[in-house]
Amino acid sequence: MLMIVLRFAHVFFGALWVGMMVMGTFFVGPAVEEVGPDGGKFMAALQRRRIMTIMPLFALITLVSGMWLFGRLAGGNMSALLATPMGLAFALGGAAALIAFVIGIAVMRPAMIRAQQLAQSGAPGTGPEIQRLRARGNVLGRLVGVLLLFALAGMAVARYL
Ligand code: HEM
Repeated sequence: MLMIVLRFAHVFFGALWVGMMVMGTFFVGPAVEEVGPDGGKFMAALQRRRIMTIMPLFALITLVSGMWLFGRLAGGNMSALLATPMGLAFALGGAAALIAFVIGIAVMRPAMIRAQQLAQSGAPGTGPEIQRLRARGNVLGRLVGVLLLFALAGMAVARYL
């Protein structure tokens, strides 16, 4: 039963995390940038729906369940698991997802939130700073997106390597 719960949580929230992130980074982000100042209104509306809280929560569930599954798969012998192509693929994919999470939480999220706060304050002369923060968020978002796609690819094929 525990395995079913772990696998459900892992695959379900992992799919949502990657899907939301890829949609956000490769489609929504560039579209918002193209629209210009009006894009800020859209970003504020997204934030009101707590996207910046929901996504990290999905990510955390995926990471914790993934590490738990990895521990169970190893069955106490981590080096033996890592010596197999399957174990290595799960580990490399997991590491990519972990790095993506750290970049997202530590650098990307604060930049996006700060940009939003500045935009909402309406203070004069903040335009260039907002653009700079959004551009930084978008670049980091692309990196996070690529890392998550790598993790997804590793997870998808690991068992058949
Ligand atoms: C982007 C984040 C992630 C996504 C989308 C994802 C997705 C998946 C999917 C679809 C599977 C099922 C593969 C199969 O049964 O053949 C899986 C399995 C697995 N994942 Fe992840 N994963 C992610 C992150 C992680 C992390 C951070 C770890 C930690 C090491 C991890 C460890 C595992 C393990 C050990 C399994 C095998 C579970 C089992 O024994 O059945 N995953 N993952």
